[in-house]
Amino acid sequence: MRQIPWVIQEQTQLKLDILKKYVAPWATILFQQAKKIKCTQKLLYIDGFSGPGIYYKDESKSETVDGSPIIVAKIANKLIHEDRERIFNIICIDKDTKCLELLKPQLNNINIYKQFWDIRENLFENEIYEILNEKKLPPTFCFIDPFGYSIDISVIRDILTNPISEVFVNFMIYDVVRATGNTSMIDTLTKLFGDNNFTDITDTIPENKQEKLLSLYCENLKKYTDVKYVLPFRVNTPRMYSRPRFYLIHLSNHFIALKLMKDRMHNFCTTNFKLEALGKKENNICLFDLFEEINFKDLLLDKIKLTKNITYNEIEEWAYENTCGVSKTIKQKLIELEKDNKIKIDRLPRQRKSTVSGNARISLK
Ligand SMILES: C[S@@+](CC[C@H](N)C(=O)[O-])C[C@H]1O[C@@H](n2cnc3c(N)ncnc32)[C@H](O)[C@@H]1O
Repeated sequence: MRQIPWVIQEQTQLKLDILKKYVAPWATILFQQAKKIKCTQKLLYIDGFSGPGIYYKDESKSETVDGSPIIVAKIANKLIHEDRERIFNIICIDKDTKCLELLKPQLNNINIYKQFWDIRENLFENEIYEILNEKKLPPTFCFIDPFGYSIDISVIRDILTNPISEVFVNFMIYDVVRATGNTSMIDTLTKLFGDNNFTDITDTIPENKQEKLLSLYCENLKKYTDVKYVLPFRVNTPRMYSRPRFYLIHLSNHFIALKLMKDRMHNFCTTNFKLEALGKKENNICLFDLFEEINFKDLLLDKIKLTKNITYNEIEEWAYENTCGVSKTIKQKLIELEKDNKIKIDRLPRQRKSTVSGNARISLK
């Protein structure tokens, strides 16, 4: 392993930015909901592959930036500062002693509200069962960020048996593609995917192989973990063009979680980072590269054709899961379809004509 701490790479920084942008509203929403129904405001963040909590900013190694456990610990402090009744537990797992030796003092130093912030030196795949067996868990967010791809799909399934748990997994597609060419990796990959159907994907063009393996992994996550929403997005890697090193995949059982995550990710859509990474100049790509932006309007129209009559809320939920859309773009395209005379929108009495929302009914013209 390279010397610890590592020098951060651009795509790693993007991953951490997304984690940061998601965890704060995730925690705020859940804390607020608990308070509203007069329950204890308690959450758990599990950093399954915590690392040392620190990266060097660049090769000069003169400055550092926070790693995932410290980022979340700082968010926890901010939220507890706003309401001292909040409890934000953190469990960090790593198999590497050196990483944890570096992490421990940092985490202790910022534990100003004396929360249960625990560090466990173990393999994630073992320690996670200690946690799951401990007692009923509060709403939990589990970040799975290994080097490589040795996480069995059954472990993800077991974390998600708690319906209020969410998982954010780093799927190292570049390494997975390489491993498929190595017969000694078949067992590991079978555990990763849950079955050996990946052996049927024999494309020689790496981009195609990546795309098919990712689709299979997402399908299998649904099939084998029974989770309701699987939201993958690619984190483009500079100079790797159409072959990213990894995808981040968010797994949740609640539409509000899917919506929040997708809205947060969508904000990254127009950053130069991704444009440079894909080698494109125009500002016309979306972070959700999996979905075809161009036929988004057609996809909406097909859905309306199929269902004949659907509410805005229903179409929004469907589109969040199945297209590149977020509420702003879904509304925009529906209004365009209405202007094109392709669909009819029956708004409720007090709904504005210039937009579409809630229980407005949408049907073919
Ligand atoms: C990519 S780094 C994590 C970085 C961290 N999430 C961050 O962004 O700041 C992966 C970490 O996983 C640890 N690791 C690898 N395999 C592991 C396993 N099976 N169980 C626990 N830790 C493991 C490594 O020691 C390494 O520190």
